[in-house]
Amino acid sequence: MSDSFVTAKITTSEEESSLPILEGTMGPKAVDIQTLYGRHGLLAFDPGFRSTASCKSAITYVDGDKGVLLYRGYPIEELAEKSNFIEVAYLLMFGQLPDQKQIQEFTGNVHHFSVLHEQVLSFYQGFRRDAHPMAIIVGTVGALSAFYHDHMDINDPVQRTMAATRLVAKIPTIAAAAYTYSVGHPHRYPDNALDYASNFMQMVFGMPNKEFVPDPVLCRAMDRILILHADHEQNASTSTVRLAASSGANPFACIASGIASLWGPAHGGANEAVLMMLEEIGDVKNIPKAVNRAKDKSNDYRLMGFGHRVYKNFDPRARVIQKSAREVLEHMGINDPLLEIAVRLEEIALKDEYFIERKLYPNVDFYSGILLRAMGFPNNMFTVIFAVARTVGWVSHWLELQHEGHGIDRPRQLYVGEARRPYPHK
Ligand code: SDX
Repeated sequence: MSDSFVTAKITTSEEESSLPILEGTMGPKAVDIQTLYGRHGLLAFDPGFRSTASCKSAITYVDGDKGVLLYRGYPIEELAEKSNFIEVAYLLMFGQLPDQKQIQEFTGNVHHFSVLHEQVLSFYQGFRRDAHPMAIIVGTVGALSAFYHDHMDINDPVQRTMAATRLVAKIPTIAAAAYTYSVGHPHRYPDNALDYASNFMQMVFGMPNKEFVPDPVLCRAMDRILILHADHEQNASTSTVRLAASSGANPFACIASGIASLWGPAHGGANEAVLMMLEEIGDVKNIPKAVNRAKDKSNDYRLMGFGHRVYKNFDPRARVIQKSAREVLEHMGINDPLLEIAVRLEEIALKDEYFIERKLYPNVDFYSGILLRAMGFPNNMFTVIFAVARTVGWVSHWLELQHEGHGIDRPRQLYVGEARRPYPHK
């Protein structure tokens, strides 16, 4: 390793000193600036954290330039093809693929915790029927802290694992109940004879007056959606969970903060926004107008589902979801005009200098709405499903952070307000 990568030199008017360079398993190296303020009285200014590593993590690796996504070292494409969501959940939470005994025990715990306390279900009656399901789940998940205070000692690794498993087990039940409540259907209880994805589908679409027969193509597509959305290193919602966790807040409150952050259209809310954008475009002939509008800086219109803070290449998840969307549309015999608009929009944008120059490619949200719509979900459930999957990532980072125990996260600022001034005498 050449010297230039061993330290970074800081030269101020008073002195020059060196800061160590940290090197991970792969990816960008990092200048360790922890002593910068103590030694030089200087802060590092990085709004949006474009050049900031907030922590060390061993869970997920993203190479935005090459379009690479690894969960505990395994490529996302291979996991989506060969694994299943409950196995991926175990991998993300505990670091290694489970053996037969481990996956049986983990699956048994998820089954055991998948039912909701009946009083939790009473919360739903307090929401308006037309409440956005994200509003329902963010409130309900936070309220779980009122039910499981007997298992919230975050200093006890056994209780930490139990709380994390409880959240993974209950989030599909909570999400499905938000849907059934919104459409006036009876709440469905988990069916432990089904796998995680199929059970979610039966809790959403099952009805008491007819047997729910899982459609293998749709359930496999749901399992794949959950795998692809499970984690993505230090994205906005995961960083929100880590920041909340650093204060010692209970796991249910931390995951509720992640749900709140995910909801934004710049983040997990983009899948719902993509469908609204495609519906607004309405016809292939209107695409050039939409593309020009997205390039026009005089408005804040953007192509939803395009661009990414880290990926400056294809988001590997987008390709898998596009393929799954085609499979499901064909299986359902649906000819969704929005898919044709999306495919043409991608083609036109990827040939446009504006998008090429800025390395803007379709991201995970660009095709997921088309797939979920074909599976029968309303637009307002798309981000909820993202939250169901990402709960695994959030609890994995929560567990990792608790294990590290590095104390409260407390960023500083560059103050640009008024200098000290006396209160005016009246
Ligand atoms: C997710 O972080 C994660 O890992 C997130 C996620 C995960 O799994 O957790 O991957 C999930 O959130 C995916 C992203 C979903 N959001 C969207 O699809 C919303 C549309 N995309 C944009 O809002 C935007 O691309 C972001 C928010 C995703 C990224 O924004 P950045 O990194 O802050 O990009 P930027 O604003 O610095 O853009 C650079 C340039 C700007 O133009 P110039 O000022 O250089 O002229 O690109 C332009 C931007 O205006 N630009 C776009 C654009 N995205 C960026 N122009 C038109 N349409 C877009 N979508």
